[in-house]
Amino acid sequence: MTAADDILRIDDLEKVFTVRRGGKSHELRAINDVSLSVHRGETLGIVGESGCGKSTLARVLMGLTGASGGSITLDGDDLLQRYRSHSAETRLNMRMVFQDPYASLNPRRSIADSVAETGDIHGIFKGRADRRRRVEEALDRVGLGAVFADSYPHELSGGQRQRVGIARAILPEPKLVIADEPVSALDVSIQAQVLNLLETLKERLGLTLMFISHDLGVVAKISDRVAVLYMGDVVELGPARDLFTDPRHPYTQLLIEAIPRPDPATRIAGGIDVSEPPSRMRDRVGCPFRDRCPAATAICADETPKPRALSEVRQVSCHHA
Ligand SMILES: Nc1ncnc2c1ncn2[C@@H]1O[C@H](COP(=O)(O)OP(=O)(O)OP(=O)(O)O)[C@@H](O)[C@H]1O
Ligand code: SF4
Ligand SMILES: [Mg+2]
Repeated sequence: MTAADDILRIDDLEKVFTVRRGGKSHELRAINDVSLSVHRGETLGIVGESGCGKSTLARVLMGLTGASGGSITLDGDDLLQRYRSHSAETRLNMRMVFQDPYASLNPRRSIADSVAETGDIHGIFKGRADRRRRVEEALDRVGLGAVFADSYPHELSGGQRQRVGIARAILPEPKLVIADEPVSALDVSIQAQVLNLLETLKERLGLTLMFISHDLGVVAKISDRVAVLYMGDVVELGPARDLFTDPRHPYTQLLIEAIPRPDPATRIAGGIDVSEPPSRMRDRVGCPFRDRCPAATAICADETPKPRALSEVRQVSCHHA
């Protein structure tokens, strides 16, 4: 792939929050230093455990929260600059599907009004008939049909509500859809249907998709390439199949080992509490994964591993991978 195939480029992106812990202010580097590209027409999976910065990355990309440093380029446009100038076009070019389809829908608005909301805000409809036609088309595309247009969220199942969330995202014909844990809140039986729908839409509409999940099993199923995020850094990147069959970073190996365990509490890292690693609060030299890494050696404490190319399409940040 050449740079010309990249629809989105993220360079040296940082997001630092100031948080108060124990009466003191600390810097929390939710996105430490992320450089990543998304190829046109692909599904890029982003995977990592809770708190690694997945949603923060999505929110910064969407302009829902500011970046602390770095740049984001969508089809040649400087997005952070666009967000500062409140560009409407940018809001239509990138759309998001959220984890909780119920919380993201206003219970007092009809499905048609929810699906049309962004279009209404940005004035994209040519009158009422056009609005109705495009809403019905979006509902058709997600397999619900126009019959749901005048329903309300409480009348729909979880899977149907997530289809509404997807209809809402695709209506403005965006260049890129970011789906943040879009199936995590759904029953397992419904998850596959929604994943299939995303894949079908990607093919039919020529969408590019960024698919975020804590579950590498789900991510590997739907993604062309996968980026593994650990404490705000991409530690491994490559084609989904390669990562799955030959994971090189010890953390990716841990995520794969965790897949078959049914109990969410023990799915990742054998139940180690990773909700807020204390090292997150400090500027430490060395590999951020070393406290948990079975392969760590002295150099891992002394030097922070930098992303290193394993091949034209794979990279890893580990001294020993
Ligand atoms: N507004 C905020 N203020 C302070 N800290 C924040 C804020 N939003 C996120 N964080 C912190 O940033 C880190 C990354 O959070 P984020 O929500 O991006 O993780 P995540 O990978 O999406 O996790 P999950 O899988 O649980 O959704 C966490 O340590 C979180 O506590
Ligand atoms: S750099 Fe060292 S500690 Fe970090 S993942 Fe590699 S082997 Fe483990
Ligand atoms: Mg999240």
